[in-house]
Amino acid sequence: MKFFLDTANVDKIKYYADMGLVDGVTTNPSLVAKEGRNFEEVIKEITSIVNGPVSAEVTATDSENMVKQARQLSKMHKNIVIKIPMIKEGIKAAHTLAKEGIKINMTLIFSPSQALLAAKAGARYVSPFVGRLDDISHIGMELVETIRGIFDNYDFNCEIIVASIRNPLHVVDAAVTGADIATIPPDVMDKLFNHPLTDIGLAKFMKDWESAFGK
Ligand code: E4P
Repeated sequence: MKFFLDTANVDKIKYYADMGLVDGVTTNPSLVAKEGRNFEEVIKEITSIVNGPVSAEVTATDSENMVKQARQLSKMHKNIVIKIPMIKEGIKAAHTLAKEGIKINMTLIFSPSQALLAAKAGARYVSPFVGRLDDISHIGMELVETIRGIFDNYDFNCEIIVASIRNPLHVVDAAVTGADIATIPPDVMDKLFNHPLTDIGLAKFMKDWESAFGK
């Protein structure tokens, strides 16, 4: 499973990219707004750090302007993927852009039928939001399982990005389910490393070494 970072924070992206853990990046308008920086400048900087797909989202909600924004954004770098919301206008825009060879990440996917429509329209990625479904007492990961089953039945060139990840178990479950990608917020990425027994074990190794050989 590929790891994308779900952030527009370039310091965090660089930090994990230096460990070889970042296959791509996803952003959304909320994440970019949080950084308080120029949108295009941030996206350009991310493409200079990560050699993989970088999702940048359109802010228009009608297909004509979505297409215009998408064409503009995709000129910035070959790795730019255009994130488009899963609405009828978005599907229309995705269909037009896919024919031009522009890669689409269809976002705000909350049902199997939405994922199926996105794949049929030519989206290269679908982003089911597991955390937001869990928030309303639906099991987000069941949606990922269903989409996996549908995509495995056919020959869609569409990868599943598990999005709205809130904890390490979401990442593990995404891998168990056979999702292609998990897009992980930096705070969850950090938690993936931790285990108390690792810390206890290392402290003991160091202590035993020091008692035998000194510092
Ligand atoms: C990424 O593609 C999504 O925009 C993001 O994962 C949404 O996460 P949230 O539900 O925590 O805002």
